[in-house]
Amino acid sequence: MVHANKITIAIDGYASSGKSTLGKDLAKALGYIFIDSGAMYRGVAWFALEKGLFNERRLNASALIAILPEVTLHFSTDGSQALILNGQDVSVEIRSKEVSQVVSEVAAIGEVRKKLVESQRKIGSRGGIVMDGRDIGTVVFPEAELKLFVTADLETRSQRRFQEMQKNDAAATLQEVKENLLQRDDFDTKRAISPLIKAEDAIVFDTSSISREEQLKKALQLVKTVLGHEG
Ligand code: DC
Repeated sequence: MVHANKITIAIDGYASSGKSTLGKDLAKALGYIFIDSGAMYRGVAWFALEKGLFNERRLNASALIAILPEVTLHFSTDGSQALILNGQDVSVEIRSKEVSQVVSEVAAIGEVRKKLVESQRKIGSRGGIVMDGRDIGTVVFPEAELKLFVTADLETRSQRRFQEMQKNDAAATLQEVKENLLQRDDFDTKRAISPLIKAEDAIVFDTSSISREEQLKKALQLVKTVLGHEG
């Protein structure tokens, strides 16, 4: 999977553990592509909500599977990393409380995962990519040269997510955010298909008490070690 010394970096971990921040910083420093795979699951969840496929938070899974071929998803290449779904920029909408509440259920559907994993593999086929999610090191890129399993304590994670939501004007209390993180972690680790699990060869990377700059420095050291081994 190495292409002219451009490796594949898989970042997995619990909700709001700091995966995307680290992934973005790492990709920028290395001149790699960064992909937030969670945004893609959020995009499909938003689409299902738009189509009225939830009845009192219960998803009509077979109806979603039937219209899944209608969904086209890509990230804009203008540097903004906007998520474009069927031609519409849904970057703000996918961060809403409503989408957060239903996304785990959508992500548990095999057909949804198959479609998104295929597209993720295509995006990463040439190496030089940092992708974050829940199954990147285990399913999407099991051959990734560097796998990080990012963790942070619940308080830190809730604060981070709360602040991110406030930036997007998504109304939710800190307590609601905390409960949603716990619910999603529970659902994501217990689902039958591709549950969130640390890959055997992943390195645990705790972001609770180190600064963003230190995280990047530490991760770049790990990349250097891998590149050294690759020769
Ligand atoms: O990273 P995030 O919290 O934005 O992800 C949203 C949801 O998508 C998360 O609750 C689980 C799911 N997800 C997944 O199942 N597999 C991935 N590779 C990424 C996200």
